[in-house]
Amino acid sequence: MKRTTRRHFIKLSAAGALAVSSRSTSLFGEKAVKPLRILILGGTGFTGPYQVRYALSRGHKITTFNRGKTHPGELPAEVEQLIGDRNGKLDALKNRQWDVVIDNPTTLPAWVRDAAQILKGNVERYVFISTISVYGEVKTGVDEIAPTEKYEGADPYKETIEAMKASGYKTYGPLKALSEKEAEKWFPGKTLIIRPGLIVGPRDETDRFTYWPVRINRGGEVLAPGDPKDPVQYIDARDLAEWTIRMAENRETGTYNATGPAKSLGVGGMLDGIKNAAKSNATFTWVDEGFLTQQKVEAWSDMPVWTGKESGLALTKIEKALGKGLTFRPLADTARDTLAWFKSLPQERQSKLRAGLTAEREAEVLAAWKKRT
Ligand SMILES: NC(=O)c1ccc[n+]([C@@H]2O[C@H](COP(=O)([O-])OP(=O)(O)OC[C@H]3O[C@@H](n4cnc5c(N)ncnc54)[C@H](OP(=O)(O)O)[C@@H]3O)[C@@H](O)[C@H]2O)c1
Repeated sequence: MKRTTRRHFIKLSAAGALAVSSRSTSLFGEKAVKPLRILILGGTGFTGPYQVRYALSRGHKITTFNRGKTHPGELPAEVEQLIGDRNGKLDALKNRQWDVVIDNPTTLPAWVRDAAQILKGNVERYVFISTISVYGEVKTGVDEIAPTEKYEGADPYKETIEAMKASGYKTYGPLKALSEKEAEKWFPGKTLIIRPGLIVGPRDETDRFTYWPVRINRGGEVLAPGDPKDPVQYIDARDLAEWTIRMAENRETGTYNATGPAKSLGVGGMLDGIKNAAKSNATFTWVDEGFLTQQKVEAWSDMPVWTGKESGLALTKIEKALGKGLTFRPLADTARDTLAWFKSLPQERQSKLRAGLTAEREAEVLAAWKKRT
């Protein structure tokens, strides 16, 4: 179970995201003290567009760099969009200057090396978006000084995204850890490393958190995993993006875990919160972990967000980020906005949730649970 759980985490946290609106927080639209020239590597997937809109609202000048493939035409007109490819087509970055670069899509150390080679001397600071997957399989909650996973391949600079996928994403955490080091190598003392946990909310193409608002909104008897007290952690993409911009404004450096909520939350509290937000008539039938394992219902992929008892993944320590102003919107906002976004997608997309159980499978497992001796 642990191994599967972890594999699913890294696989799904490597996955990208899609489109829709951003909502405001109290700091939205407040002008920053000093407008920055910010280069966002990526910027059009899941979290990037929230960074872009928030940064613009605070008066910054934004340039993005991507292939122009993901959500073309969606960037606000005032954004300068440079086109290229992290795999060797970086000319558009040459002879340009920015105050700070935010590197969103990178898993490969060579992507950091190649961009940093060009940007060094022209950009003051490097923000690297990493992941808590760098810690590997953990049994207890970890803080930022915990060891990261070792890369065991031959040459990390020769790794490709295709090879990482073919490895079942086993190299994702180790390569992210090496990419962090690569950023620090090129921008010593000028690197900010943010390690998010599960990122959720509107635009999330993986449907992990989304499964729960959608399922609970449908109502009726809902299969709920394990013990209501089992811990869960996640961060709304908008909270992450906005904090990333504020950290950049404050010229922060160092390494930060970034997940939430601020106070520990059980899966029961999460499901109840979603139920209240959706004003649903759903009832929860709690099925114990051993029985789920027997039924081949897996934590994380079949029962998203929930990691099972043995994993320390949902106990990641975030005190350092809290001390630097990481804030969280209410679960109800995340649940309602995610549901509204999901309902805005084409019917065909809505009919195929990418995480969680199908209605048929859920009914089968519930029936088996009731028949158990
Ligand atoms: N999702 C999670 O739960 C989770 C958890 C922990 C950490 N993370 C990390 O968080 C980050 C999330 O990034 P995001 O997807 O939200 O960022 P994003 O900036 O919104 O989207 C990814 C961007 O990368 C660009 N891109 C992809 N391949 C490229 C290439 N070869 N050359 C140039 N540009 C390329 C895409 O545009 P084009 O396709 O047009 O090029 C897109 O703009 C990732 O580093 C991920 O590892 C995610």
